[in-house]
Formats: sequence, structure tokens, C-alpha cells
Amino acid sequence: MGSTSNLPRHKDDFGRVYDLDDPSPYFNALRPSDYRMPAVLACALKAIHRPVCAVRRAGDTLRVLDFACGYGAVGALLRHEVSMPEIHAWYGGRHWRPIDARRHWEADAAFFAARRAEPVTFEIGGADVAGVALEYAAALGFLDRTFHENLVDEAPSEALKLFLHGVDLVVESGSLGDLLPIAFERILDCSGDGGGRPWFIYGPRPDVDWSSLNGLWKERGYRAEGLGTEPVRYRKPLGAQELADMLRVGRALGRSEEAVMRDGYLLVDMTLARPEADAGNPPIARLRRNYG
Ligand SMILES: C[S@@+](CC[C@H](N)C(=O)[O-])C[C@H]1O[C@@H](n2cnc3c(N)ncnc32)[C@H](O)[C@@H]1O
Repeated sequence: MGSTSNLPRHKDDFGRVYDLDDPSPYFNALRPSDYRMPAVLACALKAIHRPVCAVRRAGDTLRVLDFACGYGAVGALLRHEVSMPEIHAWYGGRHWRPIDARRHWEADAAFFAARRAEPVTFEIGGADVAGVALEYAAALGFLDRTFHENLVDEAPSEALKLFLHGVDLVVESGSLGDLLPIAFERILDCSGDGGGRPWFIYGPRPDVDWSSLNGLWKERGYRAEGLGTEPVRYRKPLGAQELADMLRVGRALGRSEEAVMRDGYLLVDMTLARPEADAGNPPIARLRRNYG
């Protein structure tokens, strides 16, 4: 089994596992927390695939930008019959050291190839500051296009602008917290107009202040609505310090402990933001029924 003794124990300490030659330290750090968001997001995308294709006149393929995609877990789950616990178990079965470099990539490719299944199709672009993670995700077929970019500090490249022009959905799982609105604003700045503007699906953590993102939606004529009828479990805190910090920040934002945490898990309301002009088409109630 992979050793967990040197792995991050707090959300603010994850930077060092985001861009290694091997994804196992990233997944092994999150494994004790039962991090579920890529699966929650993949499940939402599959559930709304058909109605969204129809509304967006996208044929049978939705173009998705997975923002801050890391090692491409969302694409892995969309294209394979595999669960998040199985992914955690697979990467947990090794003790990778930097000297091992990319020696597990071939075995990883075989693991996923044996589980390949894509009942509905997506064209998936991934954007991230972690170039090696993007290379890994592309090599394993989790992403069709990669954009090695920092959308907090800079506007999208010409290549990303072109991709965004036809993008149907922008999604994010587990990324930047209160810096997310900056990246989403840059994406909105160079996306199509009118009916071509993308929809967004994201999981706003309750220990983050989302007022500027909510302001952005209003300013750009978007409506943000809960996609599910119940909050979903995001992950468990990794330790006492992280738990205390999450509750403290949640409280400071006016959220009760029950709104932040249930059964030991941080809670999020999966959120769909789409242009007001699209907001009734299909009605949110129909998407919620599909999403379950
Ligand atoms: C918690 S990981 C989430 C990865 C993936 N979405 C998942 O759920 O497994 C956060 C990701 O955000 C990326 N990131 C951090 N700052 C970024 C930025 N300014 N622009 C794009 N990606 C960024 C990191 O490299 C990392 O891959």
C-alpha cells in the first residue's frame, strides 16, 4: 500500500501533489477523506447530457471544459466503468517515489482500457496550471485537448479561446475556491454570445465566500440554481485542524454547522449557472429529475 505519512493533511497543503509524474500522491492524499466530487460531477454530466444536447443543438456530443482538471478524474469517470473508490484503491496500491518517474503510466493505461465505456459522448478539454498532470490525463485518454494555462493570472490563449467558442459546459470539481470567479469571468469574456454562451456546473464549498461569483452571474445575465434537491457530500476533512478551519470560516460566513457539515462530510449544493435566456429550457425541475 502507498505510504500516507508525508501526504498533505490540509487543503492549503495540496500544491505539492498537483503536478508530479505520478497521480498517486494526489489521490492517496485525498483517499482518507473519501473525496467524491469528480464522480458527482460526472454523474451530473451524464444525467443532463441528452436534454442539454437538444437545447444546445450539439448533436450527440457535448463539448466540456474541465477547469482545473488536474489528472483528469472527471474525464476518467465519464469514459470508464469505474468508481471513485476503485480509482482511489488503484492508485493506493503503489508506493511511488520521484525516482520512479512515469513508470506506472502504462499499467494505468491498461487498467483504464479494460474498463473503457462511454455511454454518452463528450469532447473534453482540460485547463490547468499543472502541465504534467495534463500530459498524464491526455495520455490516458481522459482529455481530448489540454490547455496549460493559469486563468487567474492571465487571459486564455488563442487556442483556448477557439475551444471556448463552441463550448457547451464549463465544469469544475474541487478547484480554486474564492479565486474561481476570476477564472470564470475570463472564460465568459471570450465565450460566444447569445445562445452560444456556455453553461457552468460547479460545487460551491460552504467554507468559501461566493458573493463575488454570485455578483458575476447577475452582472452577466446568468441565473444560478441548485441542480440537486439536496446538498451532496463533498469530502470529509483530513484532520482536526482542517475541520476546525472549515467550520470557523463557515461560521464567519453566517453558515450553521449543519449547513457546512453532515455525517462528517463537507456539503455542497451542485450548482448550474446558465444565461437567463436559457434558464427555462429545459426547466430546472426537469434537469433535477434526471439528476436525481
Ligand atoms: C483539488 S485539485 C482538483 C483537480 C480535479 N478537478 C479533481 O477534482 O481531481 C485543484 C487543481 O487546481 C489547479 N489549479 C490551481 N490553480 C490554478 C489556476 N490558477 N489555473 C488553473 N488551474 C489551477 C491545480 O493544479 C489542481 O490540479
